[in-house]
Amino acid sequence: MLKWLDDAVFYEIYPQSFNDTNADGIGDFNGITEKLDYIRELGCNAIWINPCFASPFGDAGYDVSDYYTAAPRYGTNEDLRRVFDEAHKRNMHVFLDLVPGHTSVECEWFKKSMKAEKNEYTDRYVWTDTIWEEPQGMSSIKGISDRDGCCAVNFFSHQPALNYGFYKCTRPWHQPMDAEGPKATLEELKNIMRFWLKMGCDGFRVDMAGSLIKHDENSEGTIKLWQNVREFLDKEFPEAAMVSEWGEPDKSLRGGFHMDFLLHFGPSHYNDLFRCEEPFFSDRGKGDAFEFVEKYKETRAKAGKDGLICIPSGNHDMDRLARSIKGDNLKISFAFLLSMPGVPFIYYGDEIGMRYVEGLTSVEGGYGRTGSRSPMQWDNSVNAGFSTAPKEKLYIKQDESGDRPNAAAQMSDENSLYNEVKRLIKTRKEHSALLNRGGLEFVYAEKNTYPIAYLRTSEDEKILVVINPADREVKMPCSYTLGEKIYSCGGDISASVGEITVSPCTAVFYTIK
Ligand code: NOJ
Ligand code: CA
Repeated sequence: MLKWLDDAVFYEIYPQSFNDTNADGIGDFNGITEKLDYIRELGCNAIWINPCFASPFGDAGYDVSDYYTAAPRYGTNEDLRRVFDEAHKRNMHVFLDLVPGHTSVECEWFKKSMKAEKNEYTDRYVWTDTIWEEPQGMSSIKGISDRDGCCAVNFFSHQPALNYGFYKCTRPWHQPMDAEGPKATLEELKNIMRFWLKMGCDGFRVDMAGSLIKHDENSEGTIKLWQNVREFLDKEFPEAAMVSEWGEPDKSLRGGFHMDFLLHFGPSHYNDLFRCEEPFFSDRGKGDAFEFVEKYKETRAKAGKDGLICIPSGNHDMDRLARSIKGDNLKISFAFLLSMPGVPFIYYGDEIGMRYVEGLTSVEGGYGRTGSRSPMQWDNSVNAGFSTAPKEKLYIKQDESGDRPNAAAQMSDENSLYNEVKRLIKTRKEHSALLNRGGLEFVYAEKNTYPIAYLRTSEDEKILVVINPADREVKMPCSYTLGEKIYSCGGDISASVGEITVSPCTAVFYTIK
């Protein structure tokens, strides 16, 4: 169990859109270094940087062409090292984004793997042995290599799948996990991790972590692979941590991950809260958090007491929180996100309510995700302080509305979302029950009903969290004796015998006697 994860709060940085320090219209490493104090002041003590390795950026960097070299547009490996060093000086930790499942078609490994003659990279990717046979259940690249065969792809058609082997081999070209090719791929992955950990990074967010072994119905093979990685880390980098994009903590945590994300796809019901037609966190009060809570309880039970489930405010793949959640409900959403157990992840700009920019043409393989990836709005100077390049040179358009939020204005406004998020993180850190490993017990979470209430617990305190996003007064049964109010947003609650009444659009945290 890593101590530093007990009170970690992450800030996700999409590097191309964060802060441009050399006026080329694109964010960079020095831009991140420059803003570490901002992130620290908000209360976050860890960052996750989206892929920042050499890449043609056909999928925003999730198409790596060289895992050992920082993308020149962001700076050099030394500049990245400085991000690690400067973060450490501020008691912060840095995660890089590890993309183990696929590379770019431009990666040298793939170019060599496409050759007809056998070489070191022949088995680095998942190939069938004739162009006339496609890998079952997967898309593939075919007809661009001298090599006779189709190469499986993982996501976009320019992202060939690396070969870690098949759990069940039913075709001659299916290689088992312990074949030479798959073993070499895994060793290379460890080398990549070793390289960046030695340079000072503190761990990884792992892309599509659950998909490495093919034909692995119950993920047994993939779990085994990650256990192997964990053994290596325990031996060489015992302080290194990992969070998986997997969405099944029972599996990922068995595989040695410390944390797993709740995903906006799959069975989590995360979208019921923030991203659907009638989200729970809306003042319309027509949403339903019941299924989410039921699923969450089940997932948490499976994850065990040491497993950390991460509920993000958003990320580079989903709509901005502020696309569907409006006004005070943004604050109330954060009151929820920052009072739940697990490790919170705040997507850059969500702390000021940055909007989804409508109508953008796809940039770097973003498609519908592009609107959530627009450049950070720092202040009211040119390009909102993101870059001094001419506006047309920004690699992606900004929110151009006259009332777009910016960090500087919100920092000086006591009532801003920024200051609410800051207060919430501070409150979380002052109460052991609210921290990442504190206990959780749902007190009230009924179907189609508001509010939602839960207890957070530690050895020395119990805190009742009551949240009512709806714009109407609501009641719930409750027989606790309320103690001190440690946080409130909106109105308050009033207790009478066996019942409490909650004001409209309100979130409160009370100690319990
Ligand atoms: C998940 C990443 O978050 C997403 O942005 C990317 O496109 C796919 N994985 C493919 O790597
Ligand atoms: Ca730049």
